[in-house]
Amino acid sequence: MKRAKITIVGAGNVGATCAHWAVAKELGDIVLVDIPDKEDYTKGKALDLAQCGPVERFDAKITGTSDYAETADSDVVVITAGLPRKPGMSRDDLIDTNVKIVKSVTAQIAKHSPNCILIVVSNPLDAMVYTAWKTSDFPPHRVVGQAGCLDIARYRTFIGMELGVSVEDIDALLMGGHGDDMVPLPRYTSVAGIPVTQLINERRLTEIIERAKMGGGEIVKLMGTSAYYAPAAGTIQMVEAIVRDKKRILPCAAFCDSEYGVGGYFVGVPCVLGTGGVEKIIEVEFDKAERALFDSSVSHVKELCELAQKVLDA
Ligand code: NAI
Ligand code: 2OP
Repeated sequence: MKRAKITIVGAGNVGATCAHWAVAKELGDIVLVDIPDKEDYTKGKALDLAQCGPVERFDAKITGTSDYAETADSDVVVITAGLPRKPGMSRDDLIDTNVKIVKSVTAQIAKHSPNCILIVVSNPLDAMVYTAWKTSDFPPHRVVGQAGCLDIARYRTFIGMELGVSVEDIDALLMGGHGDDMVPLPRYTSVAGIPVTQLINERRLTEIIERAKMGGGEIVKLMGTSAYYAPAAGTIQMVEAIVRDKKRILPCAAFCDSEYGVGGYFVGVPCVLGTGGVEKIIEVEFDKAERALFDSSVSHVKELCELAQKVLDA
């Protein structure tokens, strides 16, 4: 069977960690791309990772480069290029610089891998997926953003910590944009099938939800830069669903037009992911309060996309 070809643009913290998870799971051959100034560094990372193969027992070709010709005909491309936030910054503060970076790398990717599935990770996420879609001109089901897999992992981690039970038994749903106004949904959260609301009281659950929503900022404050292990794990969960055609239902930033009445933006919703990319968006029922939270998060996404569009038009 032909191995999948997975390109990861940006060989920094998130990109290199994505490459690490991907080879450990033997998802395919990896091309790590960064800017020409970092060509040697990128080649070094690729070589270092390749030398884990004999120990961890995986076979994968790992290439480090700044030449997009080497990314040609990738099946999946993950874009992590761009600035991360520093303490005191919001994800939104990165928009001007990162629109330009994501636009330039997407143009290269679309030229060399016109049939790939694009997974965007750079922040502010929802506006960067929009930027990649506009630039690539790909059909929307082949462009998707990673945020929900991370945000939901944080939410599940905190519930697991609270109850002292395995995180594996926690199922949850979280929707909306990748901002502090993301929408964890306790009504759709369960622990081994038991509604979480029967196990954690409302006041404590509200605190846990707030911590999950601010989870990115908590780590930036502690580390001085943004998280990368869990973001990369969430991204590779999506890559795996696509290259193995698993039809997993994962929360992803997908193009919603009539869905949820969003009207043509990428926002976090439950999606079926397979070799076709976003093969289906699942629509769940909201109550009045959930609808209001989701709509408010989507309004923020729209504002960010308008800002991104201005940078694209400049
Ligand atoms: P980093 O600074 O460690 O790595 C970014 C890499 O992008 C650097 O190696 C840089 O040289 C490269 N880069 C910059 N311009 C480029 C270009 N034109 N072409 C190719 N490579 C280029 O940053 P980190 O921590 O890896 O974060 C990357 C991005 O991912 C940030 O925007 C960050 O905010 C975002 N992020 C998103 C998450 C999500 O859940 N969506 C979670 C964590 C980070
Ligand atoms: C996070 O949530 C910064 O978006 C990144 O950790």
